[in-house]
Amino acid sequence: MRIILLGPPGAGKGTHAGTISALKSVPHVASGDLFRKHQQEETELGILAGSFMSKGELVPDEVTIRMIEQRLGEDDCWQGIILDGFPRTVTQATALDQLFASLDHKLDLVLYLAVSEDELVRRLGGRITCRNCQTPYNLVSSPPKIENVCNQCNGELYQRPDDTADAVRQRIQVFTQQTIPLVDYYTSKGILTEIDGEQDISEVQRALIAAV
Ligand code: AP5
Ligand code: MG
Ligand code: ZN
Repeated sequence: MRIILLGPPGAGKGTHAGTISALKSVPHVASGDLFRKHQQEETELGILAGSFMSKGELVPDEVTIRMIEQRLGEDDCWQGIILDGFPRTVTQATALDQLFASLDHKLDLVLYLAVSEDELVRRLGGRITCRNCQTPYNLVSSPPKIENVCNQCNGELYQRPDDTADAVRQRIQVFTQQTIPLVDYYTSKGILTEIDGEQDISEVQRALIAAV
């Protein structure tokens, strides 16, 4: 099964991707997580991506598409995948269609997590993320069991540099301008399901499981 998790910054993509990944036994591929890994390893791509991410801008399509194509070419992605944060522009969506067509693969479902702007700002203000496995937590809605320690891997929790108020505002604006057109793009293909992402985490999870 090939699924895209689509939604604005803070919608809950990273929160729920792991559940769907386990349920469907397909890998979770998150473009933001891949960029942050490159940043940690100080690769050329990581340095380039960081200069856009810190401002809340999108990394250019060409390098993003190349990185995802490479990841999707790995063996574990052959049977299926859950994509989080990619595609984010019509150019990226078209490139993904072409890639899947060339591999004779089919995109099954796009899950669109809809959340209001006020709620996104609230959530990202309280988010802490694992430096190691990138699992997101929230000081209010989903704190870790031990303060500053990841439940999954014991990694250290930190605040992402793009979770500052200014960067969050910019990321939401970029989503509205560049990514919202994908809702129509996938609706017209008849594969988009909208989920009310504003509910409690457990209710959103139930709705997502029902949809897949
Ligand atoms: P990326 O890492 O993808 O960030 P994003 O899309 O802005 O999304 P987030 O990770 O911030 O939100 P999320 O939906 O995963 O929410 P989460 O589950 O953590 O991208 C970062 C940057 O990389 C981009 O800005 C760009 O520069 C670059 N980039 C990445 N992909 C790119 C692409 N394809 N093209 C170009 N550039 C790209 O939840 C958020 C918080 O809310 C957490 O604290 C969580 O605990 C809490 N929460 C979740 N659900 C609920 C709920 N139902 N109720 C209450 N709290 C909740
Ligand atoms: Mg995320
Ligand atoms: Zn972790």
